[in-house]
Amino acid sequence: MDSKLEATFGEVDFVEGQNGFKLIEVKNSAGIATIALQGAQLLSWAPAGEKPVIWLSKNAKYVQGKSVRGGIPICWPWFGPHPEESSYPAHGFARNIVWEVAGTKSLMNATQVALRLVPNEAFWPYPSELECRVKVGKTLEMELITRNTGLEPFTLGCALHTYFEVGDVRKIEILGLEEAAYIDKVNGGKNRQSGPVTVNSEVDRIYLDTASDCLIRDPIYNRVIRVEKQGSRSTVVWNPWLEKAIKMGDLGDDGYLNMLCVESCNAADDVVIVPPGKSHRLSVRYSVLA
Ligand code: BG6
Repeated sequence: MDSKLEATFGEVDFVEGQNGFKLIEVKNSAGIATIALQGAQLLSWAPAGEKPVIWLSKNAKYVQGKSVRGGIPICWPWFGPHPEESSYPAHGFARNIVWEVAGTKSLMNATQVALRLVPNEAFWPYPSELECRVKVGKTLEMELITRNTGLEPFTLGCALHTYFEVGDVRKIEILGLEEAAYIDKVNGGKNRQSGPVTVNSEVDRIYLDTASDCLIRDPIYNRVIRVEKQGSRSTVVWNPWLEKAIKMGDLGDDGYLNMLCVESCNAADDVVIVPPGKSHRLSVRYSVLA
């Protein structure tokens, strides 16, 4: 066994999923999680004794080169459509390619898995390195580190596009975005949030210039999910609602009722410039409050 993986014997398992998907299963006394090597995409996480916190579609398709519907896809190095080239993949390319395992570590009541990607894509001519550290325990911590290893600065858009499992999306409230300005991708234009965010139809919004943590209050599951973020200036809230969900083909016809994306991003006006030799770090901690 590779020495960088030895220390976690019993906590980390490498298994093969549907269609040859390489998966890392993590299990310790505080929580369980599954991570796909494709896209370094976390597919599931539950603290011990809790319902799943991260939503994964029952109709998910495991197709090489295509992000799985649910979990935490990593959008990188742009968010949404490419700003100039509409033929480039939506949300960048990092979620569609296989990453390498950089190491695993046993920590106090948690397990850390690190994955690494050195992009070599025509879409992205900038020498760079990407590392994703996932810490699985009673909380889930994800860190996305972008290093500029070239001689020119580049503009970076990125997101941890997290799908949360909720009892009924029509009943939840998101706190933390009160007063934030947002781009409304459903109705067009810009708007300003007043009070908590609720979802009763399709919602697709980029909340701008907000470094605030969010709370998802779920009265059906009787819990609050906390999202604490650093290195992120925008938050996206997305639910496709029925009509779009049907068209998507991998979300299930009523899957939209049990999911909600609250994404910690740097998107639209909040993209960041990474100078040569420097790095950018986006990190998010997810926890469940009773
Ligand atoms: C959200 C975007 O982040 O992701 C939506 O704001 C988009 O516009 C959604 O539809 C899902 O994107 P995809 O590419 O995973 O289907």
